[in-house]
Amino acid sequence: MSNKLKPIQWENGVLKLIDQTRLPTEFIINEYTDYIGAAKAIKDMIVRGAPAIGVTAAYGIVLGAREFRDNSKEVFMQKMNEVCDVLRNTRPTAVNLFWAIDRMYAVLQNNENKEVADIINILEKEANAIYNEDVEINRAIGQFGNSLIHPGDIILTHCNAGALATADFGTALGVIRAAHEAGKNISVFADETRPFLQGARLTAFELQHEGIPVTLITDNMAGHFMKQKKINCVIVGADRITTNGDVANKIGTYSVAVLAKENNIPFYVAAPISTIDFSLEDGEQIPIEERNPQEVTHIAGVQIAPEGIKVANPAFDVTPNKYVTAIITEKGVIYPPYNENILKLKNEK
Ligand code: MRU
Repeated sequence: MSNKLKPIQWENGVLKLIDQTRLPTEFIINEYTDYIGAAKAIKDMIVRGAPAIGVTAAYGIVLGAREFRDNSKEVFMQKMNEVCDVLRNTRPTAVNLFWAIDRMYAVLQNNENKEVADIINILEKEANAIYNEDVEINRAIGQFGNSLIHPGDIILTHCNAGALATADFGTALGVIRAAHEAGKNISVFADETRPFLQGARLTAFELQHEGIPVTLITDNMAGHFMKQKKINCVIVGADRITTNGDVANKIGTYSVAVLAKENNIPFYVAAPISTIDFSLEDGEQIPIEERNPQEVTHIAGVQIAPEGIKVANPAFDVTPNKYVTAIITEKGVIYPPYNENILKLKNEK
């Protein structure tokens, strides 16, 4: 069954993004023709999810290249550095953003001697390749992950690692989709995922749209349902994985992982290899984004906390590798010891 929720579309030089801040009550597609707009869309979480922001940044670079096409080669190259910097400075945690920008920048440098018009075409092809590969990768993650799912499983997920967080199909929800497509009669518990409510607004919407049975719960209900033996496994996505298998993902993931271990429930992380940061040894080194306090003090624009209250709003947390049963990638399922097995995977690349 093909999925119709395509968060990112590129049509004739126009970047189209589903405005994920408006879902599920409004379905609005915004159009962008300049790189500043694309960068702002990432920062403001119009588009979000690690692979999706990588793909958007790749198209942002194409938009930037088109904007500066009438300059001399020297000025064009200078401007492209600025474009990449602006896109890099949008969100700090998901490594896929930097992975995609680095890949586009390498293509730019490798073709520096060509005419600007040719460089732009090459960049556009590369962005399309990143997009198409992401879809293929997610399908492969889905297939590998499906082998871990038993008929009738009830799967808990946190945040949104679905089609909306990728080019299509999703990582954690890709596994869920694959198991559903295989007729395994699975169902899902979706954590609402405060403060930005990606679970309530996006995962619940996406699964309902797809006809996959889903029950929405608030974040603090997960332990209760695990203890009641209502959950068979947890599957989440990731924003950055370090070489020792520590996993940065949406705030609250760590608590879910600890609860899963306490209740002897497997905790799986589904992510493309581009989410592994081979330059970092452990999760303590991952930069954690701090977001606007308003996300905590307000819900849907309504103030729920006293005026002037001190707020902390880290967007992600790090789950230590000891809580991670396995990491599902497009190359296969990685089990502990992660230090050894992630490195093995790198050498196979
Ligand atoms: O802040 P967000 O919505 O971009 O956070 C998204 C997540 O934490 C996802 O779980 C992660 O990016 C994996 S998406 C396939």
